Amino acid sequence: MPNNPEIYILAIESSCDDTSAAVLYNDVVLSNVVANQKIHSEFGGVVPELASRAHQQNIVPVVHQALQKANIVKNQLKAIAFTKGPGLMGSLLVGTSFAKSMAQALDIPYIGVNHMQGHILAHFIKHDNYKKPDFPFLCLTISGGHTEIVKVNNYFEMEILGETLDDAVGEAFDKSAKILGLDYPGGPLIDEYAKKGNPKAFKFSKPSVSGLNFSFSGLKTGILYFVQKETKKNSNFISENIYDICASIQAVIVAILMEKLEAAVQKTGIKQVAIAGGVSANSEIRKQLLEMEQKKGWKTFIPKFEYTTDNAAMIGIVGYLKYLADSYNRNESNATARLSVEKE
Ligand code: KG4
Ligand code: ZN
Repeated sequence: MPNNPEIYILAIESSCDDTSAAVLYNDVVLSNVVANQKIHSEFGGVVPELASRAHQQNIVPVVHQALQKANIVKNQLKAIAFTKGPGLMGSLLVGTSFAKSMAQALDIPYIGVNHMQGHILAHFIKHDNYKKPDFPFLCLTISGGHTEIVKVNNYFEMEILGETLDDAVGEAFDKSAKILGLDYPGGPLIDEYAKKGNPKAFKFSKPSVSGLNFSFSGLKTGILYFVQKETKKNSNFISENIYDICASIQAVIVAILMEKLEAAVQKTGIKQVAIAGGVSANSEIRKQLLEMEQKKGWKTFIPKFEYTTDNAAMIGIVGYLKYLADSYNRNESNATARLSVEKE
């Protein structure tokens, strides 16, 4: 490997309901195209069969656009990285098969990437004013499918210190939003409405879960019963109080996350703390994490907004790191629906 390698990598992400393609030049993102699938909002959640069909329609134009925006031609590519899992099988298969076929046609390697490692290693994408965490660091990985506190020992060695026993935190946001009649995905809407509300207006109880694990299903049920009870008394309860309800829901969810994160710092003595995954776009968790720099002397790492929810740039950075380390299985092309962040 030369000292100053010029590595162009195409990355493809299709694990859930976003079709994304990115081109990286070493650790710099040249393009990161994301096609969201609007169709699911009608159903209040992702419909797997519709997701895989939409990926099939989107993948060719999205890859084409990513190459065009990066201003390169496909023959300049050194490798193609793709999300191999975890995710919806039908969705993963579209990206996996496309990546493999394109790489074989170009006679270049294809590199399978763990989606959750992608969320975490997005912190290593170079951009203006970026700071990289040193190893080891803690990462609160919060998305629509996962809620984990991960100890990141190095690029490819990660340990789960705590995780959810039931729903993921993104589901807690989305299901609460559904109870309130908001569109899917409801997390960003709750965040937006919460800015105008009083977080102390309504009190929801936190679950009691030992150690560093989480639970969100009881909270969701608590919110449902509370809303049902109040709307029996006043049929306009939701519309009259939507901002306060959203602020109160967000407050309890963020309090649960921060409490466990503080416990993890105390337990490990590691004060470098990152957040990753779709829910790390939440403005309240970003604010409270940053405050811990002053309050507790933590060094915190908050991802750039566009690398929080699903995107191919985060898959590209892992592909690049694996390519540099020559650490990937040259024959791997299998999609894997269930895949722990601890496994490459
Ligand atoms: O990482 P991601 O894009 O997909 C998965 O891998 O699951 O995460 C999607 C989740 C959804 O549950 C969505 O509601 C949530 O991230 N989300 C947010 C915000 N933006 C996205 N939750 C709270 N506040 C936000 N601003
Ligand atoms: Zn994700």
